[in-house]
Amino acid sequence: MDRVSTEAIGIDIGGTGIKGALVDVDSGELLSDRIKLPTPEGGKPDDIVKTVTEVISQIPKVQEGTPVGVCFPAIVRHGVTMSAANVSKDWIGLEAEALFEKAIGRDITFVNDADAAGYAETQFGAGKDQSGLILVTTLGTGIGSAIVYNHRLVPNAELGHLQLDGHEDYEKVASYAAKERDDLSWKQWAKRLQKYYSHLEFLFSPDLFIVGGGVSKHYDDFLPLLDLKTPTIPAQFRNNAGILGCASLAAHGAGTRRSEAAETAVERTN
Ligand code: BGC
Repeated sequence: MDRVSTEAIGIDIGGTGIKGALVDVDSGELLSDRIKLPTPEGGKPDDIVKTVTEVISQIPKVQEGTPVGVCFPAIVRHGVTMSAANVSKDWIGLEAEALFEKAIGRDITFVNDADAAGYAETQFGAGKDQSGLILVTTLGTGIGSAIVYNHRLVPNAELGHLQLDGHEDYEKVASYAAKERDDLSWKQWAKRLQKYYSHLEFLFSPDLFIVGGGVSKHYDDFLPLLDLKTPTIPAQFRNNAGILGCASLAAHGAGTRRSEAAETAVERTN
């Protein structure tokens, strides 16, 4: 895949905040301050689109024609959002990529947030030197997941929503938001994570788990409590992985409705 730019804007839409920055997609470094605005109450499409355009307008040093990547916490197929676990149900079946493009006035690359994070971590983060099967999970408002095999992403894995241990939707039990909601100690939370990662291990036999999300900066408090056969390491980029990943995908010319994110977004380029 041809690289069309070495700089790109990455925007990460989350349950609580919408973050964006200018990124050097060769080094994975942020070239600008990170702009963050709160996610509008209710998470409705028009409100989120408006906030995204505000974040973009506040990012300094952006040159004309810089590619824009946006990642979102839902299944994204052909530019359409197919689910809405922690945002308004109005997103389900919405031509979301087109909606953003209309508001921003240009093409964007639009992908799932955990796929973007997984791409960043395996392209130039914690998993960059590792081949084989890597499962990247993000522990935040929900649980995001990315499956990467030999540096190619299998898109739209929704492994946060496994039915497990008598629960319909395990992200509601084991996400970082669940830890906070239930006021769990690291040890209590680790028990829930143990069930989750053991099950993933049984299902996928991965070569590596990369554990991301903001809480992964406290990895020392909970990763050593897990008893897994699979090497398990913290993400390198934590909260910035989504920004870096979707910026990088945008710079590589992937992920438009025309080129189909799922197929082109995933090839390692360095
Ligand atoms: C969503 C995923 C998303 C993850 C992390 C889940 O609830 O279903 O699409 O990647 O949260 O934001």
